[in-house]
Amino acid sequence: MRGRNAAAGCAVAAWAALSSCIAGEAVAQYADGAATFAANCAVCHGAAGAGQSALAPPLTSYPARYAAQGEGRRQLALTVLYGMFGAISVDQQKYNFKMPDFSRFDDRALAAVLNFVVFDLGHAPSATQPLGAAEIASEREHRLDGAAVREHRALVLGIIGG
Ligand code: HEC
Repeated sequence: MRGRNAAAGCAVAAWAALSSCIAGEAVAQYADGAATFAANCAVCHGAAGAGQSALAPPLTSYPARYAAQGEGRRQLALTVLYGMFGAISVDQQKYNFKMPDFSRFDDRALAAVLNFVVFDLGHAPSATQPLGAAEIASEREHRLDGAAVREHRALVLGIIGG
């Protein structure tokens, strides 16, 4: 479904739920995660995860790829639990700002917001397993700081390429 026209998705979804089809967006598969994202993440990453130049990276390319691989799945959990700090580059654009941590959210809420990012914004293939609360819980056991999360990101990119 990568590259699917959101308005076309909306038209299809409208058969089932016209009222939840807002502003040309397709209905979210992960509605709880969508609400958490709109309230906590969209301010930096944008409502559709397109990012903002020099402020916050788009979430439409890497997260879906991370979710296909064990260390990448850990990376997703670590990023929302502990934030990320330091220079990164996404689609040839550089970002060097601070992603805040969201460890105050419970495991289910963090899994849901990540599934919204991975599947609704990133259009991960359907063979990709959704993230579960247990995957978030196991990363709470070894606390990292944002700089270490960035170092782990470099390791993950070495594995998945990019
Ligand atoms: C204050 C702005 C801000 C908010 C709010 C924010 N982020 Fe971020 N996010 C960033 C920045 C900045 C980075 C890149 C950090 C860096 O440069 O090291 C980032 C990175 C990420 C990444 C890693 C992307 C990659 O390519 O590895 C993910 C995933 C992510 N954010 C998800 C979220 C989610 C989910 C939320 C809400 C729960 C959220 N962010 C809220 C600013 C923000």
